[in-house]
Amino acid sequence: MVVTDSFFTFRISLFKSKHQNIMDAQNRRYFLKSSGLAALGLAFGPSLRAFAPSDKLRIAHIGLGGMGNAHMNWFAKLPEVDIVALCDVDAHHLAETRNKLRELHPKGPKVKLYEDFRRILDRKDIDAITCATPDHWHAAIATLAFQAGKDVYGEKPLSYDIGEGKIMLENLNRYNRVFQMGNQIHAGDNYHRVVELVKSGAIGNVHTVRLWKTGVPPELKGTTPAPVPSQLNWDMWLGPAPYTEYIPAKCHFTYRYFLDYSGGVFADFWCHIADIVFWSLQPKGLKNVTARGEKADGIADVPKWLDADFEFDNLKIHWSSTPPDVPGAAEKGIGAYFEGDKGTLICDYNTRSITINGETMTDIDYVPMSVKRSPGHQQNFVDAVKSRTQPESNLAYARGMTLPMHLALISYRLGRPVQWDASAEQFINDAEANALLHRQPRDKWKLI
Ligand SMILES: NC(=O)c1ccc[n+]([C@@H]2O[C@H](COP(=O)([O-])OP(=O)(O)OC[C@H]3O[C@@H](n4cnc5c(N)ncnc54)[C@H](O)[C@@H]3O)[C@@H](O)[C@H]2O)c1
Repeated sequence: MVVTDSFFTFRISLFKSKHQNIMDAQNRRYFLKSSGLAALGLAFGPSLRAFAPSDKLRIAHIGLGGMGNAHMNWFAKLPEVDIVALCDVDAHHLAETRNKLRELHPKGPKVKLYEDFRRILDRKDIDAITCATPDHWHAAIATLAFQAGKDVYGEKPLSYDIGEGKIMLENLNRYNRVFQMGNQIHAGDNYHRVVELVKSGAIGNVHTVRLWKTGVPPELKGTTPAPVPSQLNWDMWLGPAPYTEYIPAKCHFTYRYFLDYSGGVFADFWCHIADIVFWSLQPKGLKNVTARGEKADGIADVPKWLDADFEFDNLKIHWSSTPPDVPGAAEKGIGAYFEGDKGTLICDYNTRSITINGETMTDIDYVPMSVKRSPGHQQNFVDAVKSRTQPESNLAYARGMTLPMHLALISYRLGRPVQWDASAEQFINDAEANALLHRQPRDKWKLI
């Protein structure tokens, strides 16, 4: 029995009024009855599985490029996990990953291979999925997974746009699911210690943080459409994104340099380093965002470089493609520089140093260890699924932390500053900018 596309379209109608909710419930019951799915036990519904500590989680990996293989490697090492399904729209990636999994677990459980992730969501014996598809798929796959009663370990950035993130959060709550976003560095000891040091007040009241990531997109060439490789389902790769003929540079890995799918180096790395600011300072009341940049060389349309200024209630955050002119920054490809009224702190993923009254040190002994250490980002997700709690990089947190990145991309696209009403989640008197908060997905992948 096949669950049709229209069934999915129907299920992801969101932002409902009370009246719409009642109508949907009635329609859904009608659909299940008329399709016979319910009688066959194939209808979606929240998983009712209660986990004992010794139970194994049955998971599926969706999207098996560079990061999907990292997911498979990480989860394959966890004793409380069985990988039972793999999915990719590129049959070569699917087969290669299957072979690697076979090497890792020659006597592991039976693994089924899928081109269409919806067939994984049909399976009642799967507890959770991981998603490492390109960014434009994150929200649809996670939302449908929540509706199918699955928990999700999904890659960063959370979603393609702000509207999608809102839909994900609403569905997470409605279906009582667990979500962890893949900003794995969150679990590292260095970030935990930076949070303790900043929160301790050692550098005083922090008024400004400068974030940076060096590196430019490659110069991509070739605007002539090519035949779609026989192993690739291009329409399913595009999914919610606008239709275009197959152009190799727009597909695997380098899709991230096209605004139809992602946001370039800025969107790729923002979540990783902005995390340390949002975790340690919880900035609130974002008001103004100004981004300046220059288009990448070649056919890519993301920024080659980007500078962005964010004004929160009591904090200014600046993003740049070049390090700030302060000691210790130039040698770091990615970093955060905290400026407080008593001192400064500079960090990257694995290192940190604090400067107070001209004295630089890597740690301050008297600041106690107050933040509970992570058991590992993937284990933390497994623990959360079993205990029905939200993990470290949960969806609500990930959404708040990702939102400024989307606003800066909108400012870059418009070529001007934008004013934001944080409580209404709208630009102020700015229809042009508000229109960019949520892209209408293609036909059957509509989320509203
Ligand atoms: N956390 C990190 O450090 C980190 C690092 C790299 C990438 N990422 C994120 O991981 C995601 C994937 O990046 P990547 O570099 O692995 O890209 P990639 O192009 O190498 O891999 C994406 C894979 O998804 C597959 N895919 C596309 N649509 C699909 C669908 N509908 N169903 C199933 N499979 C589908 C593609 O065929 C491809 O194999 C991105 O969102 C990226 O931002 C995170």
